[in-house]
Amino acid sequence: MKLLRSVDELRAYSDAERAAGRRIALVPTMGALHAGHLSLVAEGHRHADTVVVTIFVNPTQFAPGEDFDAYPRGLEADLAQCRAAGVAAVFAPPPDEMYPDGPEGGKTWVAVEDITAPLCGASRPTFFRGVATVVTKLLVVARPDVAVFGEKDYQQLQVVKRLARDLLLGVEILGAPIHREEDGLAMSSRNVYLDAGMRAEALVLSRALDAAEAAVRHGERSRDALLERATKEIATASHAAIDYVELRDPESLEPVGGTLEGPALLALAVHFPQRVGADEVVRLIDNRVLRPGV
Ligand code: PAJ
Repeated sequence: MKLLRSVDELRAYSDAERAAGRRIALVPTMGALHAGHLSLVAEGHRHADTVVVTIFVNPTQFAPGEDFDAYPRGLEADLAQCRAAGVAAVFAPPPDEMYPDGPEGGKTWVAVEDITAPLCGASRPTFFRGVATVVTKLLVVARPDVAVFGEKDYQQLQVVKRLARDLLLGVEILGAPIHREEDGLAMSSRNVYLDAGMRAEALVLSRALDAAEAAVRHGERSRDALLERATKEIATASHAAIDYVELRDPESLEPVGGTLEGPALLALAVHFPQRVGADEVVRLIDNRVLRPGV
């Protein structure tokens, strides 16, 4: 497995793979790899000959006061996981490779409109600009045939699909299903922030999705009733503070009407303290597409 540190190395590596007739899958990550990330690698292997993982904690998607400095980093362990998963190359650049003039020094940003406004965009107004810009840079340098993103970050997946289409990048953006712990908690690099008590409380996210899904299965079609069902479940965790609980169109991310008439995205974001009494909060997200009629 190759470890690539510079943009030039990534470009040269990709060019050589392409020249040899191999299809490339790119899997962008911020490291602290877990089985969710590795499921994206497996998806990459299904669609390409060469899987390239990028590991870069992207400063421009963190707002001041967020966890950029605290974000878990462990390159050696990440490389071992990639090697075991059959990854051909890891691109792990220092920050000045991606941002030669410093994180805020560039003059060019990729701004995806409309679908970045609600949900995570409402509480993290500069987040998607940072994500869209760094992902565009990675796609432009590596020019993969496919790039794989998790449905865990559902809105991010839609944003990346949109930018790839609008900017004619010629890459197929693939979504991979949410990978969960056995008890239902969606895997996330940020789960390590939670102590055992808060980790247990965090199960309310997947329970809220299960409850709403069960309600739909039993015929519930009222948007408000479904939102109330999910909200009630989250409220059983005494330290949970809801950022949003919303039902939106899975494609346009527009709000759904009062009655579900087709698939609807139930999206959740909830804050927990790292442990009882801690000032530091952990923001967890989860989602599921509810399908009336299934
Ligand atoms: P990161 O949080 O490291 O996630 C990297 C990729 O793994 C994303 O596509 C994310 O949706 C996916 N992923 C994370 N947890 C998952 C899970 N439990 N199941 C399935 N997929 C999961 O998302 C980012 O990094 C960054 O914003 C990035 C796209 C790399 C841009 O900086």
